[in-house]
Amino acid sequence: MTAKLIDGVAIGKELRSEINDGVRKLLEKGCQPGLAVILVGNNPASHTYVRNKEKSSIEVGMKSEVIRLPEEVTEAELLKQIESLNADDTIHGILVQLPLPKHIDEDLVIQAIDPKKDVDGFHPVNVGKMLIGQQTFLPCTPYGIMELLDRSGVDIAGKHAVVIGRSNIVGKPMGQLLLQKDATVTYCHSKTKDLSSITKQADVIVAAIGKSKFITDEHIKEGAVVIDVGMNRDENGKLCGDVDTEKAKAVAAAITPVPGGVGPMTITMLLKNTLRSAEMAVT
Ligand code: GUN
Repeated sequence: MTAKLIDGVAIGKELRSEINDGVRKLLEKGCQPGLAVILVGNNPASHTYVRNKEKSSIEVGMKSEVIRLPEEVTEAELLKQIESLNADDTIHGILVQLPLPKHIDEDLVIQAIDPKKDVDGFHPVNVGKMLIGQQTFLPCTPYGIMELLDRSGVDIAGKHAVVIGRSNIVGKPMGQLLLQKDATVTYCHSKTKDLSSITKQADVIVAAIGKSKFITDEHIKEGAVVIDVGMNRDENGKLCGDVDTEKAKAVAAAITPVPGGVGPMTITMLLKNTLRSAEMAVT
């Protein structure tokens, strides 16, 4: 079997065109959706992510505000900045780029964001709503993966989905979203024993481990769908995922490449959440 590639670039583009239509409708009503991103410190990867968020939001017609704060900024100053964005009617989405410097309490910062503007879906109120299946902002990476599966015609109901990774940003919400679509979900993580015996039973594997090319054909059942969330560098400094794509292709039915799979969807879903927040503010 040679796996079909799930094209996140094409699906992301299709979605951003729909988002652009939504933005234009709001502009006709006199509202331009606005996304504010706060970036603290000098983490090079974070700087790249934030530049991409700024560029993509402008491309779909949104207002973009990036607030760059020095590494030494105090927690109180950061919280004040968030308060001011909470009160700003031209801003519909607020994102604080993580990770934050060690002297700042990340939980406190996330909880300071108005849940109505929490387009990351990280506020405990929104996490709780997601868990009980209420409409809310879904965390962008798992939300993007659900869109990829849906738009690639992968039916989840009754399937065994194995999520590898249990972070608050990806693994945990991923399992919940799959469960809501009637999958039977198993979580695996760094303490899981005999990982491949579990992943071999999976119809759908989501790999969010953070280890280059960790998942190979030996972990995958013939005909499974493999979603690779990894963003790593291989021994030659080349971008690669958590899955050894070349080996996996031989057994999987479909697989997301890295780059060009999950990555382009994450920013797209951030824009979708921001549009939805602006729509709710208008109606
Ligand atoms: N850092 C890495 N991924 C994310 C994300 O999805 N949102 C935020 N705010 N920070 C991140």
